[in-house]
Amino acid sequence: MGNPLFATKSLDTLMKEAEETGEHSLKRALGPVNLVTLGIGAIIGAGIFVLTGSAAALYAGPAIMLSYVLAGVGCAFAGLCYAEFASLIPIAGSAYTYGYATLGEIIAWIIGWDLILEYAFGAATVASGWSSTLVAFLQDYGINLPPQICDVPGAQWVFYDGRWAPLTTLNLSASQLTGLPQATARFNLIAFLAILAITTILIVGIKESANFNTAIVFVKLTAVLTFIAVAAPFVFKHPQIAHANWGVFLPQNTGTFGFYGWSGVLRGAGVVFFAYIGFDAVSTAAQEARKPQKDMPIGILGSLAVCTILYFVVSGLLTATVHYSRLNIGAPVSLAIRETGVKWGSYIVNAGALAGLSTVMLVMLLGQSRVFYSMAHDGLLWKWAGEIHPRFRTPYKSTAIVGLCVATLGALVPIGNLSQLVSIGTLLAFVIVCTGVWILRVRRPDLERPFKTPWVPFVPLMGIIVSLGLMAGLNGLTWVRLIVWLIIGMVIYFTYSVKHSRVRNSLK
Ligand code: ALA
Repeated sequence: MGNPLFATKSLDTLMKEAEETGEHSLKRALGPVNLVTLGIGAIIGAGIFVLTGSAAALYAGPAIMLSYVLAGVGCAFAGLCYAEFASLIPIAGSAYTYGYATLGEIIAWIIGWDLILEYAFGAATVASGWSSTLVAFLQDYGINLPPQICDVPGAQWVFYDGRWAPLTTLNLSASQLTGLPQATARFNLIAFLAILAITTILIVGIKESANFNTAIVFVKLTAVLTFIAVAAPFVFKHPQIAHANWGVFLPQNTGTFGFYGWSGVLRGAGVVFFAYIGFDAVSTAAQEARKPQKDMPIGILGSLAVCTILYFVVSGLLTATVHYSRLNIGAPVSLAIRETGVKWGSYIVNAGALAGLSTVMLVMLLGQSRVFYSMAHDGLLWKWAGEIHPRFRTPYKSTAIVGLCVATLGALVPIGNLSQLVSIGTLLAFVIVCTGVWILRVRRPDLERPFKTPWVPFVPLMGIIVSLGLMAGLNGLTWVRLIVWLIIGMVIYFTYSVKHSRVRNSLK
């Protein structure tokens, strides 16, 4: 008998679980359109609406378009591998389950634990972004929310130019500050309530969640398409502006790695990678898809393709309309549309950003509760996390607990600087999934694969190399945090999971 740490879950068992029906199983309610919109719901968010501006301003200039292509190609390699697994093993656990089937229990645990960084931390990060977006959105209509409930405890806010804003976002000298009203935030109630509202929808039902998502995705796509429809004619009518802004497409490197030039394009790709995170979350809904074999690849690859094209066009128009040096701001797309003279456009773009971030939270929380559900089902986490509500047919306990923890995290912890942790967690999952696809092709070439990743091992290998490359570009502190996080996971694994693992117990 092999080492039980590396025991794998048999594919036959997984296939059987995927076919379970009845009130204690997840409900197969999603079709291809739901799955593509679920992907778009998770993908388009803070990345395109916020990060594109700062990445162009600080690292790549107009060549941020190339950063988007680079990050998109990297994601496509991983996306093709996810598509093969999701159609072959249509189970809710995504990368965790694929790891269990191919690399063994301990690796599966690591990946399940790691996915918390992507989904739970991702949702908390986006929740705090959502609260800042709401504050700015309401201020456009002259409404100022009390700063005490809009930020994490201790954050300083200042009333300047008719608006409350975090001190850190204003460039004010000490003398300018004197006499201005100031306040200290106590609890980010806005982020907290946003997560709780989304959690409620998720508990009520997968179909309800998917319908809510589809409606909101429509709003955010309208915002993105409005920007394109307004900015494209503007650029064509004012070629001199575009020419001036794009005069230097690839600004010369400053002499420091990562600041403009080709290395800047690379660093920009590492930053805007965040904008693509989410297509993989579609795979966590595999157990709720009506025809996962056919529709999972459509959901994963379709949403990724749509977003890659939109990102390329938006980043190009953004940098053609406004000089990149002016884009290091909170709402760059909204600034660009104002520059075209179409003032109402910025209201639509802001509403789209607000809507956009809410579905990112939804799909991230969906993914997190489904991964917990699968882990609990395998005995690696507490049993309650795997319980399904008999009427709603959702993992209500894990959704509720995850929601409460994420809401608290978003309300109390200044997590803005943890977004790199979300990226590293996601990239690690990509590495494992790509490796898993390759290993399974060698070990079980006989399996009937409804979707086949093309050019194996080239595609998985490229997925691994690009993901590791992007991970290497993240800072040292992020690596330390990842390692500490994984050590905490190991403690839980060896104190709880090894004793309750169903696969291990079946080996005895
Ligand atoms: N891709 C998601 C976003 O950009 C996480 O907000």
